[in-house]
Amino acid sequence: MWTIVTAYKRNRTILPKILDYPTCFTISNRAISQKPSPNPSPSPTYDMIILGASGFTGKHVIRETLKFLNIPSSPLKNFAIAGRNTSKLSQALQWASGPNPPPEIPILTADTTDPASLRHLASRTKIILNCVGPFRLYGEPVVEACVDSGCDYLDICGEPEFMERMEVKYHDKAVENGSLVVSACGFDSIPAELGWMFNSRQWMPPAIFSKVEAYISLESDKRIVGNLGTYESAVLSVANADILHELRCSIPKKPRPEIPGTIPKGPLVNHLKKVGLWAVKLPSADATVVRRTLSCLAEDSRGLPGVNESTEQIERREAFWSTIKPAHFGMRIASKSLFGVVRFITVGKFIALFGKTGVGRWLLLNFPSVFSLGFFRKKGPTEDEVASASFKMWFVGQGFSDGSLASQGNRKPDMEIITRVMGPEIGYLTTPIILVQCTLMLLKERGNLPKGGVFPPGIVFGPTDLRDRLQENGISFDVISKNTV
Ligand SMILES: NC(=O)c1ccc[n+]([C@@H]2O[C@H](COP(=O)([O-])OP(=O)(O)OC[C@H]3O[C@@H](n4cnc5c(N)ncnc54)[C@H](OP(=O)(O)O)[C@@H]3O)[C@@H](O)[C@H]2O)c1
Repeated sequence: MWTIVTAYKRNRTILPKILDYPTCFTISNRAISQKPSPNPSPSPTYDMIILGASGFTGKHVIRETLKFLNIPSSPLKNFAIAGRNTSKLSQALQWASGPNPPPEIPILTADTTDPASLRHLASRTKIILNCVGPFRLYGEPVVEACVDSGCDYLDICGEPEFMERMEVKYHDKAVENGSLVVSACGFDSIPAELGWMFNSRQWMPPAIFSKVEAYISLESDKRIVGNLGTYESAVLSVANADILHELRCSIPKKPRPEIPGTIPKGPLVNHLKKVGLWAVKLPSADATVVRRTLSCLAEDSRGLPGVNESTEQIERREAFWSTIKPAHFGMRIASKSLFGVVRFITVGKFIALFGKTGVGRWLLLNFPSVFSLGFFRKKGPTEDEVASASFKMWFVGQGFSDGSLASQGNRKPDMEIITRVMGPEIGYLTTPIILVQCTLMLLKERGNLPKGGVFPPGIVFGPTDLRDRLQENGISFDVISKNTV
């Protein structure tokens, strides 16, 4: 109660509803009325709840969500925001609504260290959008609450260990309870997932492709800066790489797709002359997420059946997946200069070296600007820096002009198709756009999507209209060139 009154005093200009757990308060104009908590209603009150909405990414997710609230064509009729600090949540809502006054969006309190507060959220909504990271520290109780209650879960995680552990621990129960759990619904890893599928669809029989390498290039006429939350997640991912290895060794091997041609081995650093970029291998989550989608397809090449699909939809889904062929996938980070690549390598070396010990991690996380060479800052990027940044992701697909050539010994690919995904700043513009479009897709197409389970985003959203919706919202997919090599 004290927190809420204080929050109200600090934010007299903000007039959203602030609801607490387990007691419910409504703040409206100057009156604060206390109501006894009603029994939880059997049907969800909200279409979705943004958890961690006060964070750097969370506030941008609120702003993106507001664009789709109460417009006739939108399936989003209402939403709430949630977190552990109502005052910060109010400020985030005010920032996200600006220059307009904040609309009446309910504010709910929930803390990932308080399972009852998470169960309460999950019982009131169709979907939770989780923006609380690092996910390996805070994510599991949220997944557990969603799976237990049968509500759907989306997040913006880029941490493979968390995603794969959630799949091992919660998949079966999520299937049983009808809870769809999809991580990596942000820049990690939907551009990579939809990008390789888009490249794959350009290969018309008898041509087949066997590998695709994605080159991510970040551009801006100002500084390119990320927030501490993302940096911390990256540092912890590196520090816990051994745990991921142990997890993978402890479970049965997943089916692997059959990919034509030999496994490609490229140099650590290479020059992509056609687009004028230098690049180095990037150990991001993308390749592991794409591999998980490929593994689902190896189990059933027709994809995942929807909970309530029409015959027409089944045909549409199967037709979509028949155009997607497996390929070796690799990720590189690129720069126009070799010096830019040296900077990436230096930051990677710092994180790999210092991330392994407690003292090293303390140094990395307390002096982010120093050890990331300015790529991450405690306070995150300024609004100008966010607005002026953009990304291009080049997908260089290589394969054979005729599928029969692939089985002829060590024949090298003779055909190349380059496609590109392009959009605004990755963390705080592209990620919210993607997360919100996944949410709208889930609300609109729930019957066409799996009843439940823990899945990577590509296998769930691949056959939907997500790519078209991203295109309409500023993330474009283009064919750049088709050549023989
Ligand atoms: N997929 C992508 O491409 C992508 C893009 C951007 C971000 N991310 C990921 O998103 C995550 C968040 O990043 P960020 O920069 O937004 O971090 P941030 O600014 O530090 O925000 C973290 C949020 O989590 C909340 N939180 C922390 N502990 C909590 C707890 N115990 N219970 C409830 N809420 C809690 C914070 O609440 P308070 O305000 O109360 O502290 C805040 O709202 C990171 O893991 C990052 O890697 C991914």
